Amino acid sequence: MASPVPINITEAELKLLQTLIYQECGMYFDERRAHFLHDRLQRRLRACGIDNFYGYYRLLTSFEGKRELVNLVENLTVNETSFFRNKPQLEVFQKVVLEELLHRKQERRDWTLRIWSAGCSTGQEPYTLAMMVADALAYYYLRNPLPFDMPSPKPLIPPPWRVEILASDINYSVLRAAQEAVYPEHQMESVDYVYRLRYFDKVGERYAIKTALKELVHFDFHNLKTEFLPARNDVIFCRNVMIYFDEAEQKRLIEKLYRCLNPDSYLFVGHAESLFGLSDKFRMLHQNNGTAYQKLEAQS
Ligand SMILES: C[S@@+](CC[C@H](N)C(=O)[O-])C[C@H]1O[C@@H](n2cnc3c(N)ncnc32)[C@H](O)[C@@H]1O
Repeated sequence: MASPVPINITEAELKLLQTLIYQECGMYFDERRAHFLHDRLQRRLRACGIDNFYGYYRLLTSFEGKRELVNLVENLTVNETSFFRNKPQLEVFQKVVLEELLHRKQERRDWTLRIWSAGCSTGQEPYTLAMMVADALAYYYLRNPLPFDMPSPKPLIPPPWRVEILASDINYSVLRAAQEAVYPEHQMESVDYVYRLRYFDKVGERYAIKTALKELVHFDFHNLKTEFLPARNDVIFCRNVMIYFDEAEQKRLIEKLYRCLNPDSYLFVGHAESLFGLSDKFRMLHQNNGTAYQKLEAQS
C-alpha cells in the first residue's frame, strides 16, 4: 500500500503546537525531537480527517477539541518501562529508605506508608514497589514482632501497617493497561522466579498480578504540570518523566514534588536524571550505584 501523502506543516506551525503541548503537560520538543512531533501530528491529522494544520489547531484549542488534545498528548508520551527497572536504585529503596522509614514510623506509632509512582506508565513500576514493600515489611516484622494478632490467612501487609501506593499518569490508555495488570512473557524478563511464584498467576501465556498485590496500588490520572498533586507522601518515584521537560519545567516539578513529600521523606528520579542544578532542598544518598534524594527541611 502506498504511504499517505504528508500534510504540509511549516516550522512556525510546529512551534505553535510545541508551545501548546508545553503549556498543557510540560513536555518539551526541542529540535532533536521535532521529527517525532511532526510524525505524530501527521497521524492525528489523518485520524481526524483534517487536511490542514490550522483546522487541527483550531480544534485542539476549542472546547469540543478537549478529547483530541488528550489523544494527541497520549500519542506524544513515551511509555517505556519495565519491572525492577534500575535494580541498584531499588536496593537503596528497600534496604536503606524503607528500613529507615519503618523504624522512624514505628517509634512514632505511625503505621502508614504512602508511596507515589508519578508517571507510572503501564504499572510495572508501582507493582515492583508493591512487591518490594510487601517483602520488606514481612522481613521487618520478623525482626520486630508487634503485639498484634496476625489474622489468618496471613495478609500481605502485616497489621497494623497500612500501605498505600498511588500510581498516576497523564495517559489514560497506559492507566487502563496498568489496572488490568496482565503482562506478556517478554515483559517478565526482569522478574525472577521467586517473585513470579509469589505475586503472579499464570493466565494462558501471560502473567497476572495477584489480587492481594493489586489491591495495594490505586491508579489515578494526574498531570504533573498542574498544581493539584497528591500530598503527604513518604516516598515519591518520578523516574524518566522530567527527562522530557525543559529545565524551567523540571525546576517547577521538583519544587512541587518537594511540597508533596512529608518531612525527611524521599524522592527517586531516573537513572539519567538528577537534581543537580535544579534544587538544593534535598540531600543525595548514593550507595552501590543507586541514588535517592532525602527532603531537607527549610531552615528558619
Ligand atoms: C518513560 S515512562 C516512565 C515510566 C516509569 N516511571 C519508569 O521509569 O519505568 C514516562 C511516563 O510519564 C508520563 N508523563 C509524561 N508527562 C506527564 C505529565 N505531565 N504528567 C503525568 N505523567 C506524565 C508518560 O505518559 C509516561 O507514561
